[in-house]
Amino acid sequence: MSTSVDPSSSETNLVVVGGARLEGTIRVGGAKNSALKLMAATLLAEGTYRLANVPRITDVALMSDLLRATGASVHWDESGPDAVLVIDIPAVIEPVAPYELVEQFRASIVVLGPMLARCGEARVALPGGDDFGPRPIDMHVRGLSELGVEFETSHGYIHASAPNLRGARVLLEFPSVGATENLLMAAVRAKGATVIDNAAREPEIADLCELLNKMGAKIEGSGSSTLLVEGVEELHCADHTVIPDRIEAATYLAALGIAGGEVTVEGARHAHMAMLCQKLGEMGMRISPDADGIWAFAGGRLRSSDCSTLPYPGLATDFKPFLVALLATAEGVGIVTENLFSGRFRYVDELRRMGADIRTDSHHAVVRGVERLSGAPVKAHDIRAGAALVIAALAADGETVVSEAHHVARGYDDIAAKLRGLGADVRLA
Ligand code: EPU
Repeated sequence: MSTSVDPSSSETNLVVVGGARLEGTIRVGGAKNSALKLMAATLLAEGTYRLANVPRITDVALMSDLLRATGASVHWDESGPDAVLVIDIPAVIEPVAPYELVEQFRASIVVLGPMLARCGEARVALPGGDDFGPRPIDMHVRGLSELGVEFETSHGYIHASAPNLRGARVLLEFPSVGATENLLMAAVRAKGATVIDNAAREPEIADLCELLNKMGAKIEGSGSSTLLVEGVEELHCADHTVIPDRIEAATYLAALGIAGGEVTVEGARHAHMAMLCQKLGEMGMRISPDADGIWAFAGGRLRSSDCSTLPYPGLATDFKPFLVALLATAEGVGIVTENLFSGRFRYVDELRRMGADIRTDSHHAVVRGVERLSGAPVKAHDIRAGAALVIAALAADGETVVSEAHHVARGYDDIAAKLRGLGADVRLA
């Protein structure tokens, strides 16, 4: 498969016929939100990188195109049992992230840090991405400014320059994932030590620290909210295997909660999603880690529970659409509170079209479970919202057509085939 994006995918629908119990084993892929940052990190040093367990999703194709725009070459090596993404970074890169790519996926902003570290300057188009409210980058800018970066914005581009990056103490106002990553990737080449306080603790950040340390960086405190970075003069290329995608794994656990059955999510790491597993347990599912991943069982209708999103290790905002879908058919009333993003409830209108009883008020959703949803034509507004509609449809009467399924392909490698492997009736059309 090429890593280029197929423009015709925007016309794709996911068609789901509800009613089947889920049985069997489903394998989770590599984490999108790790792979994209690891790919950005390769810009830090010349050489050939081999990244294993990279998911074959649209956002990875877009990031590949973004690396190519800097002068890199990117291809899949399919000679082994599992394809490996091979990235060749030349001795000189062009530190530019063009609008045509950046406007398609917000994660592209994480090339800013490595470009600055490598070239002392960067020109990055202002990001677009998911359709859920304003998503500023003020914390990235403020933190990088502490490291000596100067910013100018004109014609839709950020022009950043830092001929002499220097270490500093940065206290983040909020543990932003993207800001932590940009700061890390700039600080590894800064002169002197950097301390990032109130850093994000997501497993994807620990994965990035691991690759950076393999490349010669000196980072301590990985996985904690204080990261200590001792800047180094030189970095070198390295190989890495991407951690499993906890959000994809959560999608399948929630699918099981909705449809009922018994499933092993192979490759999933319980430790990366302990809070979600606890919540699903409260709702009546049986979940336990096993040697291959996570085993789970859902016998009957689940009980409602209140849920509140928080930075890691709290309940991830990305799990929220799945929880709302679960509560839509659970017994009782559950209140879901979003604490990270504004405007992340658009899929609720779509669930209502399927018969869900949900009221939203600012960042709260009150979900009164109904016995059954009914299949309907609905629209995916972003990756997780689209996946939530697919899993809600698993227990709906009749057929659901989820349009604009290209959003789902941004984060899932053939969700239809994977769910079919568990006995669900899901197809692309
Ligand atoms: N924020 C600011 N200013 C900033 C940066 C962030 O106000 O400079 C705010 C955001 O608007 C948001 C909150 O802080 O309200 C958290 O944003 P964060 O920076 O942590 O998120 P992100 O890096 O933009 C990543 C994931 C998201 C995930 C969030 C939260 C990637 C590519 N994206 O986004 O994942 O929801 O962290 O965990 O890693 C997805 O996978 O579908 C997805 C959207």
